[in-house]
Amino acid sequence: MSKGISLSKYLEQNTNEQLAEVIEAIAQGTVAINEKVRVAGLSDIVGVAGTTNVQGETVQKLDLLANDIIIEYLQKGNACAALVSEETDAVLPLKANGSYVVAIDPLDGSSNIDIAAPIGTIFAIWKRKSQGEVNDSDFLQKGKELAAAGYVLFGSSTILMLSVGNGTDAFTLSAEGKYLLSHPKLSIKKEGNIYSVNQGNMFKYDERIIDFINWCDACNAAPNRPFGLRYIGSMVGDLHRTILKGGIFFYPANKGEKKGKLRLLYECIPMSFLVTQAGGASSNGEIPILEIQPEEIHERTAIFIGSEKTVEQCLQIIQQKVSA
Ligand code: AHG
Ligand code: MN
Ligand code: MN
Repeated sequence: MSKGISLSKYLEQNTNEQLAEVIEAIAQGTVAINEKVRVAGLSDIVGVAGTTNVQGETVQKLDLLANDIIIEYLQKGNACAALVSEETDAVLPLKANGSYVVAIDPLDGSSNIDIAAPIGTIFAIWKRKSQGEVNDSDFLQKGKELAAAGYVLFGSSTILMLSVGNGTDAFTLSAEGKYLLSHPKLSIKKEGNIYSVNQGNMFKYDERIIDFINWCDACNAAPNRPFGLRYIGSMVGDLHRTILKGGIFFYPANKGEKKGKLRLLYECIPMSFLVTQAGGASSNGEIPILEIQPEEIHERTAIFIGSEKTVEQCLQIIQQKVSA
């Protein structure tokens, strides 16, 4: 797969027509979102929308705009049977004869919109299972059953990260508005030296989590510790760095968020698919994220994700198999 080929060419060579149509629709939707994001401060799309979503979170105007744009692009085709979105309470039926369903976080990292820090769109695509009316069961599939997953990072450049199940590839949006293959077959470092966690939550963490953070901070200790700490506060930004530079990102369950904060269906499963396809690992602290059987479309989970050996080291400590 040579650098510079277009997303369309890549999809022609690696997927079927219906899946290609769904991925292209999402990609084109993110090109439209990108245009809004780049000039957000000049239009009335920053700030709060004055509503809260099913998560009980304050909705930003760009959350809703991004959601509307993705729906608009998916509706142009016939391949997407339904959508689950962070911004909509229930399953949104789209095209009855569509073979695929999409779970999406239309705008990830909302708290970073107003400060022009990295934000993104995250998506998961499954082949639907039911016949007739689409229902939750079409979405409550394990991550290992995914047909495709990806994200678009609206950062210093606009990057589409994608896996259709044979590795993880990244495309950069060109000046002409085309996604071109820029990072073929990414492979995450087996061991990293960057950890990424919200240390502001330390007082809420279980002592085993604090043990691992102290392990990362240990001076002059192997392997190449103390680790550096990087935390952007957008999962897309933190995971993009983790895939390219190695290390571990984790959002544990805590006293304030008993099941963790991040959503299983449209944040943790797609990210875990991308990282696993790039040779990394991802766990909820007990089992691989891709093995979890989702029970509810907006359920949350703890997540420990990144370089295989670093994640393993983390699990050894938080499961108290080794002392920190
Ligand atoms: P969203 O903006 O879609 O709600 O996602 C925000 C998430 C995720 O992007 C990030 O990793 C996490 O929230 C940061 O949470 P804290 O600010 O609590 O650290
Ligand atoms: Mn998010
Ligand atoms: Mn979001």
